[in-house]
Amino acid sequence: MPLLDIRNLVTSFHTPGGRVPAVDGVSLSIDRGKTLGLVGESGCGKSVTAMSILRLVSAPGVIESGSILLDGAGGAVDLVSLPEQELRRIRGGRIGMIFQEPMTSLNPVFTVGAQVAEAVLLHKGCSREAARARALEMLKLVRLADPERRLDEYPHQLSGGMRQRVMIAMALACEPDLVVADEPTTALDVTIQAQILDLLADLRRRLGTAILLITHDLGVVAETCDEVAVMYAGRIVERAATEELFRQPLHPYTIGLLAARPDPDMVLRVAGGSIVRPPLVTIPGMVPAPDHFPAGCRFHPRCAYARDQPDADGPACSAAVAELLEIEPGHFVRCHYAGRLGEPRPVGMVRS
Ligand SMILES: Nc1ncnc2c1ncn2[C@@H]1O[C@H](COP(=O)(O)OP(=O)(O)OP(=O)(O)O)[C@@H](O)[C@H]1O
Ligand SMILES: [Mg+2]
Repeated sequence: MPLLDIRNLVTSFHTPGGRVPAVDGVSLSIDRGKTLGLVGESGCGKSVTAMSILRLVSAPGVIESGSILLDGAGGAVDLVSLPEQELRRIRGGRIGMIFQEPMTSLNPVFTVGAQVAEAVLLHKGCSREAARARALEMLKLVRLADPERRLDEYPHQLSGGMRQRVMIAMALACEPDLVVADEPTTALDVTIQAQILDLLADLRRRLGTAILLITHDLGVVAETCDEVAVMYAGRIVERAATEELFRQPLHPYTIGLLAARPDPDMVLRVAGGSIVRPPLVTIPGMVPAPDHFPAGCRFHPRCAYARDQPDADGPACSAAVAELLEIEPGHFVRCHYAGRLGEPRPVGMVRS
């Protein structure tokens, strides 16, 4: 059984304008000690998926259906239905969290040491001295420079990269089975990004932590993930081992994402004095908003391979919803014509 098994998760926001199904039937699983990358354009539902795992989706969002099974010594528990009190023990205990902007998770009025120690105290119930010693040990583990001094400093006294290390220290302090990392390096310079990703990979090897890594960056996925899930308009459209996905993408959306990858030699660019990655060259058109998902395959209006009419091979893409099917062992695709796409239309003919 996988460590985490998400089945048919539906999370929606009930807004004055109506129901917004941001996550609409997502199934994913992560094995112990493995890293799963979750990729997709802005607004496709990655963060809502992550927040659903921790049941931190705020009102008006609700998990409407599905299950999120976390396997453990006493068998699996369903995080969707677990009493809040038990869930609080799992958050920051068996599941650690790292977010894009550490300042939203770090409390400005407490020292770094106090916050890491608090995370340990909350879940391990040890003495204050032991918790402080553990905090120091964690700051060393995440290779924070001058850890003894940093222990007594406040978050604002640290750089962005240092704060992210502190977040990682907090997330790992209780030796979680799973870390959910939502764009953990997006706000950082590219050199610091690389250091943080190395650090995560190293910690994973040493501690055996599984990681759900949410990112826009396919380069990061290629370097760090065992498996990749590609999300589009609230659903998983493709899932495979990383090598397989890069070697043989089968969903037109994944093909587009890979084709839009920046040339590795062009990645470094000096902008405003700092080095950043250029944004992805995007696929024509935009991700539809959850209250305007198109019928049939949700990608069809942007798809260079979409069929307007049903034929002997299959249905019209605008008419029938494709299921996520295992096309080859371990390679799942949600496309009526996966593996037999035919010729793409010229980009100018992509309908919007
Ligand atoms: N509080 C909310 N109320 C209504 N809709 C929301 C709310 N929070 C998120 N959504 C919608 O849910 C969808 C998915 O959002 P989500 O934050 O998961 O995207 P994402 O894939 O993480 O994007 P990004 O890459 O920009 O972080 C979006 O269309 C967003 O507008
Ligand atoms: Mg997000």
